[in-house]
Amino acid sequence: MATHHMAVTPPVGGTSRAAWLDGAVTGDLIPGAAGAPAAPSHVDADLVVSLDGVGVKRSGTALVRDVDWQVELDERWVVLGPNGAGKTTLLNLAAGRLYPTTGTVHVLGERIGRTDVNELRTRIGLSTATLAERIPADERVVDVVVTAAWAVVGRWRESYDRADEARAQALLSQLGIGHLADRAYGTLSEGERKRVQISRALMTDPELLLLDEPAAGLDLGGREDLVGRLAELAYDPDAPALVLVTHHVEEIPPGFTHALLLREGGVVAQGLLTETLTADNLSKTFGLPLVVERSGERWTARAA
Ligand SMILES: Nc1ncnc2c1ncn2[C@@H]1O[C@H](COP(=O)(O)OP(=O)(O)O)[C@@H](O)[C@H]1O
Ligand SMILES: [Mg+2]
Repeated sequence: MATHHMAVTPPVGGTSRAAWLDGAVTGDLIPGAAGAPAAPSHVDADLVVSLDGVGVKRSGTALVRDVDWQVELDERWVVLGPNGAGKTTLLNLAAGRLYPTTGTVHVLGERIGRTDVNELRTRIGLSTATLAERIPADERVVDVVVTAAWAVVGRWRESYDRADEARAQALLSQLGIGHLADRAYGTLSEGERKRVQISRALMTDPELLLLDEPAAGLDLGGREDLVGRLAELAYDPDAPALVLVTHHVEEIPPGFTHALLLREGGVVAQGLLTETLTADNLSKTFGLPLVVERSGERWTARAA
């Protein structure tokens, strides 16, 4: 299991400067406030995520339905589907940030609804556009990353360890942006920002890393750079289990092993990437006849 090196001190003052990080702001999501942890219910230790018969309903509409999905420690999953298919809903379930309406969700051995979600959040790296929007433009890049070590638990500390800052710096360097550590976040290009967000998501040495459309809005160079960085992560045996949401097969990084295809909240197909990414499955998923081609470990799709 990954080791955590956070030395979290009690909150100082009433307001949390890290509030922008706490994803639980909408009424639908599980609040981050500390609750009494109930007795944990443990499942198979190699199962990082397990959804069993999961459905989420909002005002009579199924956002996702009948989802059975297991993610193991060494797997790298891509979740594909058109806009509105339920991809972000699925990711929020896997992040322990959303209760299912039906079925059960286990994340990192804990059953969602019966565990302290704050404790769980330190073990999950999450990068979404919603979280990224809350990063202040004037925040120093290294601080954006290092604050993840305490912000995920919703606590404020006045200063952080030098070890934390060194780790943040190392993560930025690993993502190829070590030289930007002292810049203000708002001055970065979109591609650089994405890499800061991923560094931040990795800060707590998570056991599970969830990325929601990390390549959205990038130009070709930015996308290719990011795909390369994610491929490095995918091939790293020490990296956390990975789940990447996208609607472009071109954005699937080499090294990814599995795919889950979603359409209108339902699973069209799932399994090994090479067996799942067929023209037939993708055509059903996106609702139009598609030709799918694979070149090495990269994929393309276009109308048939
Ligand atoms: N709180 C909500 N209430 C009602 N509908 C919602 C809510 N959240 C999301 N939806 C709808 O559920 C569907 C799936 O959303 P989402 O998971 O964000 O899809 P994706 O990420 O694949 O684009 C969309 O049609 C969206 O509009
Ligand atoms: Mg989405």
